Parts: sequence; structure tokens; C-alpha cells
Amino acid sequence: MTVPGGDLVVRNIGRLTTWRRPVIQDAAVIIRAGIVEWTGESRELPAQVRDAPEIDAGGAAVLPGFVDCHTHAVWAGTRRDDFVGRLSGEAYSPAGIMSTVAATRAATDDELRATAAERLGAMHRHGTTTVEVKSGYGLTAHDECRILDVVAALAGETDAIVESTYLGAHVVPADAARSAYVDEVIATLPEAKRRGARWCDVFCDEGAFTVDEARRILTAARDEDFGLRIHAEQLTNSGGAALAAELACVSADHLDHVTTEDARALAAAGVVAVLVPVASLYTRSQRWGHAQLLSDAGCTLAVATDCNPGTAWCESMPYAVQLACLGMGLPVEVALRAATEGGARALRRDDVGHLGRGARGDLVVLDGDHEADLVGHLGASGINRTVVAGRPLG
Ligand code: NIG
Ligand code: FE
Repeated sequence: MTVPGGDLVVRNIGRLTTWRRPVIQDAAVIIRAGIVEWTGESRELPAQVRDAPEIDAGGAAVLPGFVDCHTHAVWAGTRRDDFVGRLSGEAYSPAGIMSTVAATRAATDDELRATAAERLGAMHRHGTTTVEVKSGYGLTAHDECRILDVVAALAGETDAIVESTYLGAHVVPADAARSAYVDEVIATLPEAKRRGARWCDVFCDEGAFTVDEARRILTAARDEDFGLRIHAEQLTNSGGAALAAELACVSADHLDHVTTEDARALAAAGVVAVLVPVASLYTRSQRWGHAQLLSDAGCTLAVATDCNPGTAWCESMPYAVQLACLGMGLPVEVALRAATEGGARALRRDDVGHLGRGARGDLVVLDGDHEADLVGHLGASGINRTVVAGRPLG
């Protein structure tokens, strides 16, 4: 990792979204040592930047880099059979997670690292400049720590921000007794912390962990100084959102089966609602209305890919945004804000997700001259250039 980063001037921007002031037309950005120093209209560009490396955006729109605040990017094997089965009417079941666990346990560290690095590379090409990565396909203390080590290694190889989350409580492994496994997850928390995990997550749902088990794990994690996240109300309404509000988790994610009362409790407790529309599509839940319900209740929204082999094999934040708009009905600006600033809020960061002065110089130059076209042009990449800490990738 070589942050703080480079100097860069991005010129000839048709529309610049910073989220700190109204969209600026015919704009430029100055990044110094990886940090945004100046944004404004081209004609006001200070003269002294003339020597800095530059990008000519060619009139394209520029956005803050995407903040993908929910991924499971370290895994081995494939869930092809689950996917094909769903298309002939089989329902998604968390039991399928165990086949990914078996493949992941059998993979070498190098294999896990290489495949995860490819996924992160694809994420960067799709404009992601900050990514959260969960463990959760190891499900023994040893294998969970191995995955967290892979996440730490990936973080060390890139200027992009990689946030690490311990998800030992993904499902109860088929080869373990329930209460002994909950004890093991709790006992592993200090080691997970030492391996670089900042967050602890629990999958609270039918087929995964109960509210009482999730409360035990998350309370212990809070005592170990983890920030708390929860997979809640994905497959059924089972009380995960109310627990998120009770524990003031930083985020509650999925929420397909959330109720109005849950949504109000999340908003009152300041829990960020993370929408993962790719999973809603991929599991064929056909549930989209929760986004509006959470928005109406006043929740801060984030949009993430949930990149994983079982419910969301997708590295593309633009695709997640397209589904947030076309599936969930969010306006373009709301969805783009959720995919940038909202993701940053879900990771408790104010240095990313916007392009105000002092933010990291993480941005995307789009192909088109308006950010709505990133959503409207389906099946296209839409991203021309990704800049991380003032350094253009690729
Ligand atoms: O976020 N819901 C739990 N975990 C993942 C799916 C994991 C899998 O099926 O492999 C999710 O959807
Ligand atoms: Fe997930």
C-alpha cells in the first residue's frame, strides 16, 4: 500500500457530482497527494496546477468512486447447480452455503487470494474504490482466520480501501453442534480482530442464526470493540431488524421482509439500511418494495453488490444501481448517492463516497456525459476510468 497517493488534475468534466454542492457543469478536480484539494468550474482552475499529471474527461460525467459496503468476495468453487436449480423452481436455501464452505476449506491460500484479487480487480474496473469484504465461508476458527488473512493481504496490495468483516456466524456448519459453534464464534473474536477485522456480522434468519444467538454474538463483538452489522430479514421476517435497532448496529443489510415498524426502529436508531438488489433478483425473491418503505421511514440508504457465489455473483456497482432504480424504483440520484455516500455511512467513513475538499481522490469518469446514462444504458460497462487516491487505474 502506497497511500497517501498521487497528484492529478481531471479536466473537461461535463458534469461533476461531489455531493457537497450542486452538480458543477464544465468542471475540473485537483487532487494533491491523493486528497481532493479543489473542485470547481474549468474557467476558475488555478493556474499553478499546470505541471500535475492530468486526465481529460472529454466532457464525460464524473462521480465519487463507488463504496461497496457489503461483499463476500473470498470464496472457492461454484454454486452453478443452485443457480440452475432455481431457474427450474427450487427456492434459495442457506444450506447451499456449505458447498462453498467445503470448496473454500479445500482451496490453498494462494488460490483464495488469486481468485479474490481477480474479483477486486473487476470491482475496480466497475468503479468501486472502497470495498468491504466478509469472511464466512470457512466456519472454523482456522478457516475464518485464513480468509481474514486473505482480506488483509488484498488490502495491502491496493491503494483502494478494503474493510474487513468477520462473519463466522454465516450459518451453523453442518459438522458442528449449534451452541458449541456460537461459543466458537465468540471465542474467535479476539483472533479475528488481530487479523484485521473491524466489523462483525451475523446472518440472522431462518436456516442461519436466531435473534438470541445473534444478540449473544453481536454483544460479545461490541465488547471486543467491533462495529456491528447484520444480515436481517432477507428470507423471512425473523426479528433481525429489531435487533439491529436494539444494538444500534452500524448497518442492517438485505431487509427484503422488513416491516414498517422495523423500518421506523432502524431509522430512529440511526442504522444504515443496506439494499442488495442483486441478491433480491438472484434468489428470485421478487421483493422490491422494501427500498421505498425504508426510505419513507427516513433510513439512510446504501446500495451494495453483496458479491458472493450463492445469491449475487456480481462485482458491478453500476449493475446494483440499475436494479435499485429499475427494480426498487429509486430515483437515479438517490441510488447513486446510496452507492457512494450511503456506503461510506455504512462503513462510518467520511473520507470517501463524496468529492468535497479533503476527501480521498477516489472517482470515476463515466463513458457518457450524464450520470443517468450509467443507469439507463443496460449491459454496458459505463465506466471509462477509475481513479484511486489520485492514481488512474489501468
Ligand atoms: O448475503 N445471506 C447470507 N449470505 C449471502 C449468501 C451466501 C451464499 O448463499 O453463499 C447473502 O446473500
Ligand atoms: Fe451478504
